[in-house]
Amino acid sequence: MDIFVIRGGTPLVGSIALAGAKNVALKALVASLLTDEPLILSGVPLIRDVALMGELLAGLGRKVIFNEHTVRIEKDGKDSFQVPLELGARLRTSSMVLGPLLARRGEAIIPNPGGCRIGARPIDRHIEGLVKMGADISYHSEDGYFHARAKKLTGVTYEFPKNTHTGTETLILAAVLAEGTTVLRNAAQEIEIDDLIALLNSMGAQITRSDTREITIKGVPSLHGGAYSIMPDRNEEVTFAIAAAVTGGRITITNSQHEHLEAFLDAFRKAGGTAEVEGATTTYASGGALTAVDVTTAPHPGFMTDWQAPWAVLMTQAKGSATIHEAVFESRFSYVPELKKMGADISFFDPPVENPEVFYNYNWSDRVPGFHPAIRIAGPTHLHNAVVNITDLRAGATLVLAALAAQGESYVHGIEHLDRGYEAFETRLSQLGAQLKRINEE
Ligand code: EPU
Repeated sequence: MDIFVIRGGTPLVGSIALAGAKNVALKALVASLLTDEPLILSGVPLIRDVALMGELLAGLGRKVIFNEHTVRIEKDGKDSFQVPLELGARLRTSSMVLGPLLARRGEAIIPNPGGCRIGARPIDRHIEGLVKMGADISYHSEDGYFHARAKKLTGVTYEFPKNTHTGTETLILAAVLAEGTTVLRNAAQEIEIDDLIALLNSMGAQITRSDTREITIKGVPSLHGGAYSIMPDRNEEVTFAIAAAVTGGRITITNSQHEHLEAFLDAFRKAGGTAEVEGATTTYASGGALTAVDVTTAPHPGFMTDWQAPWAVLMTQAKGSATIHEAVFESRFSYVPELKKMGADISFFDPPVENPEVFYNYNWSDRVPGFHPAIRIAGPTHLHNAVVNITDLRAGATLVLAALAAQGESYVHGIEHLDRGYEAFETRLSQLGAQLKRINEE
């Protein structure tokens, strides 16, 4: 296992380009199963989750050829409709092949999806929608697989009980080749979904966002291949913005996604950070003393759950008491004990919520005993070095940022979680002046 050794205290300064969006690339790769023609995707981030998805597609009869950030996916002759347990367990998005496999093969066997352990992460909303479209799906606990069959998928009107990003995408991927029109109500608004829609439309699909939270998909008999460039990763931009602010540096993003980061920019500027937008670039810095700002996570266009962990590091450097209320996932504070090892002053609490079953994006019944949905951070604190352990992707970026802001040399374990979602993180941070190296523990 590799670890990062990070010497903190150096301001990060310079320019950087965002990699392609992980949360589009993975679904774009799944979309290749909807056609027998070659699909060429550019702007694909070179991260472990993408490599795993490549392996998964290879197992389903696709040849996946990487040429730096461009990937060509083409039919390979051999065909399968089963995702192996060990692959599915490592990749959250593995369940998304359900739609294409059901639409084209009439059958799919997929494991309970894995990915970041940030709560129970069930896929009940995905399954409910697919069943409404005519699929028969059951989970076999004796083998750990979902077994799904559909003679044909039929267009329906389906209203999601609560927001779900990949659930919305899963149903889109199923509905493009279904018979008739599907209308998804209470559909998620994440802009990564609109990038996937643009890709599918470029392949011949007929999908429109018919209202802010409604997506209409007219089923078509087949899709063709083509070429598509994936949007840059806005979650990376948030990570680099906070890296600039907590190290007292200044980072310019050359392919900024600022127009999709309104809620973040609003909170960042209120906290005293500066974000200077100039055309396609945005330059982030701390702008001097930082002030505490409370955030509550929400689906897009709110303050995204992916941003709250790095936000916590920013708040350790801000004056006052800041709260973070996590409303999307029921367990996304794994970084808190680790930040406390570095000197952060953080306590858990339960904010009063009138109707928690409705307010929280997760199923209320999935909450874990002893979990608190919010934290309070008292700042500013001088972070110091520690040996810390990463347990999920965004928590990982958070601990790296904290170590970069801290005095002394920190050891960050569990960086395989970071490798899942950030391309060459240490190389890019080093280019900005960070003093960190990857070493093999053995
Ligand atoms: N949920 C259910 N049942 C479902 C679907 C969702 O209970 O059928 C719950 C989830 O457990 C969660 C909440 O509803 O508590 C919201 O889940 P959602 O489905 O919106 O999240 P996701 O699709 O699993 C994606 C991203 C996440 C990102 C969220 C929010 C991908 C691969 N993952 O997850 O990204 O945080 O949407 O936008 O697109 C990351 O990049 O690190 C990451 C975790």
